[in-house]
Amino acid sequence: EEQAGQDRFNQIIAEDSRIEPRDWMPEAYRKTLTRQMSQHAHSEIIGMQPEANWITRAPSLKRKAILMAKVQDEAGHGLYLYSGTETLGTPRDELNDQLMTGKAKYSSIFNYPARSWADMGAIGWLVDGAAIANQVPLCRASYGPYGRAMVRICKEESFHQRQGFEILLELSNGTPAQKKMAQDAVNRFYAPSLMMFGPPDSDSPNSGQSTAWKIKRFSNDELRQRFVGMIVEQIKILGLTLPDPDLRFDAETGTWLHMDLDWVEFKAVIAGNGPCNAQRLQRRRDAHNEGAWVREAAAAYAAKMARKTE
Ligand code: 3HC
Repeated sequence: EEQAGQDRFNQIIAEDSRIEPRDWMPEAYRKTLTRQMSQHAHSEIIGMQPEANWITRAPSLKRKAILMAKVQDEAGHGLYLYSGTETLGTPRDELNDQLMTGKAKYSSIFNYPARSWADMGAIGWLVDGAAIANQVPLCRASYGPYGRAMVRICKEESFHQRQGFEILLELSNGTPAQKKMAQDAVNRFYAPSLMMFGPPDSDSPNSGQSTAWKIKRFSNDELRQRFVGMIVEQIKILGLTLPDPDLRFDAETGTWLHMDLDWVEFKAVIAGNGPCNAQRLQRRRDAHNEGAWVREAAAAYAAKMARKTE
């Protein structure tokens, strides 16, 4: 039974087809997908915070409405990804607990503060831009529920990226003070957004197996340099600059070379010691506690409905 399962699994992966929840799968496949998908979901949920902090300070009703829609989208992406993760057998409460107790990771980028309105532009353009670069290949992940969730999420991320670009463009074409604010936001978010793609391939313990199982389609460094290639063009249209003196295209390898990234800082951030980790987790725990009455009411209502149909 085990061997037949393994053979069938290997065949599905080899022919680039899909593994579905009820298919036999190696426990390590289940484990690494639960790890990656739940951390992806945590990233979406925590990612709501830096932006939500600016909803009440948006400069216009239009900007406020767009930002609210974006934050609501992130919540939906998170719920979508938690549902996808649950198909692998770990219940939602356990996933939530892993996040709130600090056991689980979430994207490093959200542990940096959003200091100005221009940061909403830098986050939309750089962070959601990086998320798209990373998530488009995940649409072809070998695990069905993950790949399918990515298709829908990528469509919404494109809107997020465009609205971020537009915020920066408007500021860059505004007063000198506005242009300076936009440049400052790009300066602060550039390096951390490159680190979103994960550690260098030489220090990426999960990449080998994830690639063999066709979860990961391109390496961390490959996607990172592809993303650089995208933003070096767009920054010109923005009339701003990237804070990277080492940025250049290496014709020989056909890749974009960029400044050295601070992997010591990265490891500190993902170990929980970034600028905002404590406040992000505390805010998440507070939201969970403040929302307890909603869960209790929903459960009481469900029980009442169940009694009615007995
Ligand atoms: N932030 C936090 N942890 C990170 C990280 C990051 N940017 N990059 C890597 N790590 C962690 C990994 O999770 C792994 O730790 P673990 O084994 O405890 O999980 C460790 O560092 C080593 O990294 P690896 O390269 O070996 O790990 P992976 O093969 O999992 O690659 C990844 C890392 C590329 C981030 C991959 O997990 C991935 O593609 N995840 C899904 C994409 C994702 O999470 N995107 C979040 C973007 S933010 C977002 O979506 C919100 C947007 O709407 C704004």
